[in-house]
Amino acid sequence: MADIHAACFTQPRPWSAAEFADLCASPLCQVSTLEGGFAITRRAGPEAELLTIAVHPDARRQGKARALLTESLTELQSSGCEEIFLEVVADNHPAIALYKAAGFTELSYRKDYYNGVNGSKSAALVMRKIL
Ligand SMILES: CC(C)(COP(=O)(O)OP(=O)(O)OC[C@H]1O[C@@H](n2cnc3c(N)ncnc32)[C@H](O)[C@@H]1OP(=O)(O)O)[C@@H](O)C(=O)NCCC(=O)NCCS
Repeated sequence: MADIHAACFTQPRPWSAAEFADLCASPLCQVSTLEGGFAITRRAGPEAELLTIAVHPDARRQGKARALLTESLTELQSSGCEEIFLEVVADNHPAIALYKAAGFTELSYRKDYYNGVNGSKSAALVMRKIL
């Protein structure tokens, strides 16, 4: 997971193997995986958050993220979760297209939310889907 994440992200920064081990060990987290990609959600009562979704650059545009997201959402829904939120860098058009196609809508815009390299800042979109 850490290798795929590092191949996918500079901002937010890639997460370490130790951070993934902690997430995978948490009873609140649900992990969906397939060859070249994964998604992690975290449950908080009736709500969940999509913590991350990543597909290695060599495995993109094959429907893998859609399959991961569908699996995650289906499992949350069947366990009684009512809504899911996510944050995404506001100019991450592939991810935003993925989320909109899955039924997420824009909830708010957070200016200068992410810290980038060389002191740069990026806005975030907060998105939500009712399950
Ligand atoms: C965003 C990401 C997960 C998409 O993974 P993927 O497996 O290539 O996506 P899929 O093939 O399942 O595409 C599903 C839909 O997402 C949208 N989409 C995916 N990549 C896209 C792109 N490059 N441009 C426009 N839309 C895109 C499309 O709506 C697509 O449906 P379509 O193929 O019928 O047009 C992948 O690009 C990635 O890992 N990016 C880096 C990490 C990242 O940004 N994660 C999200 C952070 S919040």
